[in-house]
Amino acid sequence: MTDKAHALDLVLSRRSVSPRFLVAPTPTPDELALILRAAAAAPDHKNLKPYRFILIPPERRGDLAAAFRDAKAERDPGAPAAEIERAGEKAYRGAMLLAVVLRIVRDHPRVSVSDQMLSAGAALENMLLAASALGYAGCLRSGNSATSRRVRLALGLPNEEELAAFLMLGTPAKEPRPREDAPADLLSVWK
Ligand SMILES: Cc1cc2nc3c(=O)[nH]c(=O)nc-3n(C[C@H](O)[C@H](O)[C@H](O)COP(=O)(O)O)c2cc1C
Repeated sequence: MTDKAHALDLVLSRRSVSPRFLVAPTPTPDELALILRAAAAAPDHKNLKPYRFILIPPERRGDLAAAFRDAKAERDPGAPAAEIERAGEKAYRGAMLLAVVLRIVRDHPRVSVSDQMLSAGAALENMLLAASALGYAGCLRSGNSATSRRVRLALGLPNEEELAAFLMLGTPAKEPRPREDAPADLLSVWK
């Protein structure tokens, strides 16, 4: 396969792998730096970089779990203890865990909020693709508790930043399903 065909194959075949199946080894610091360069290579109107990432080291997973449990209890006060416990367990999934933070400039004179959101999405896809190119896989998870005010405060985000999702990376312990064909209605012709 030529380099170009290989690059295209990587894009066409990328699949998310469930966090439970993202195991060690994880990207090395140099590989993570490459993955972040891939994020920064995404199209970005006026180069605002309307996103950033917070690496959750293994020793802080317990604190994140506590924040997830608090968030679940706050959102669903009648939830049984087992459900609250389960909300906390999500903090331990995925061998490498990064919080995805949006820092959108809401009143930018030239760059709309949607431009900035799209840029962040493109950055995330670039990260997933870079991780795949390095032999890893990844997955995005949001969810009401995970991205709640409680968790945002626990991570120390200021008011103007939003906790959008968590990005998990690792070695896939399971072969992902092959990608289906693109739906036929992705493109129409303006008549
Ligand atoms: C920002 C973002 C957040 C997501 N959050 C969740 C989630 O909380 N739960 C979930 O099941 N899938 C979530 N997904 C979807 C999965 O990460 C994944 O993209 C989807 O299952 C499709 O798999 P694929 O990437 O292999 O096409 C999210 C996707 C994005 C882009």
